[in-house]
Amino acid sequence: MKKELLTLGIECTAHTFGVALIKGKNPLANIRDSYTTTKGGIIPLEAAKHHKEVKEKILEQALKKSRITLEDIDSISVSNAPGLSPCLLIGMKFAKKISLKYKKPLIGVNHCVAHLEIGKLLTKTKDPVLLYTSGANTQIIAFEGGKYRIFGETLDQGVGNFLDSFARYIGLGFPGGPKIYELSLKSKNYIELPYNVKGMDFSLTGILTNLKQKYDSEKYLTEDLCYSAQETVFAMLVEVAERAMAHTGKKELLIGGGVGCNIRLQEMCKIMCEEREAKFFSPPNEVLVDNALMIAWTGSLMYSAGVRNTPEELDINPSQRTDEVEVKW
Ligand code: ATP
Ligand code: FE2
Repeated sequence: MKKELLTLGIECTAHTFGVALIKGKNPLANIRDSYTTTKGGIIPLEAAKHHKEVKEKILEQALKKSRITLEDIDSISVSNAPGLSPCLLIGMKFAKKISLKYKKPLIGVNHCVAHLEIGKLLTKTKDPVLLYTSGANTQIIAFEGGKYRIFGETLDQGVGNFLDSFARYIGLGFPGGPKIYELSLKSKNYIELPYNVKGMDFSLTGILTNLKQKYDSEKYLTEDLCYSAQETVFAMLVEVAERAMAHTGKKELLIGGGVGCNIRLQEMCKIMCEEREAKFFSPPNEVLVDNALMIAWTGSLMYSAGVRNTPEELDINPSQRTDEVEVKW
């Protein structure tokens, strides 16, 4: 029988520091701690400071929960791209220290690819179009010709950052996505906003400016603006996702990224899929938001395919794109 790989994963690209363990396809632990603010957005150096403070504790909790020791693991994977440099550096240093101390192979994992791989594992989709909607990234991705290709994406900010920026502007704190959702439930009054789909891409900053102007004019209810913001930008995302499905002929849509927790976005995806006789899949919320389980799982896929990095050569890559990763697994 083939040995089940035991992989340690470390996530550290932005606001979340996490450690997870996976044996074969079975998650053993997925522990995280996130940097949050009540006022203002994410400050990279502050988030990195948070990661530095919690890293040992999170590792300890993950090992305790899975009842294993670092001697037992086969490899370590760390999210080395893309992300905020100060945060990436904390995770990289930590992973290298463990790798050298316990003489375990080290593998660098692309955070965006990991969002997709964990979704595939947990929903059992085979060849989906991924609607990847997180803070910094918003992309429509599908596998074609050995790589995860980007079929469409935001031309400026990610949809999570868009929601967080508006939330911050109206005094809701960070992260704002869930708070905007709560407010949107109080409204059914759609207020016209710009709709910016450009071919397979889309742009969000103009809508944000328009929302802020409307808010400042004091002519609109905040819940109506939250409702309309969601309806508009989610419709844009679903439109481009549908076009990617039509173009590639794929029959599965998978959602990934923190904004994927939004019930209304999931509902709109479901309706679109039903109308074209395709299937919609969403993994549990705990792997939609940033998490280390996706890093552990993707790392174990890469390790099985023979990918090996060493602590001497592995570095962070803050701006690596999804389609730069060669998918060998
Ligand atoms: P990236 O993956 O691009 O590096 P990230 O690290 O910020 O970005 P995630 O943890 O995947 O990403 O997502 C965080 C985002 O998800 C935040 O912008 C947050 O507001 C949003 N979010 C979380 N829950 C919800 C929800 N229920 N509705 C809408 N947005 C949500
Ligand atoms: Fe993410």
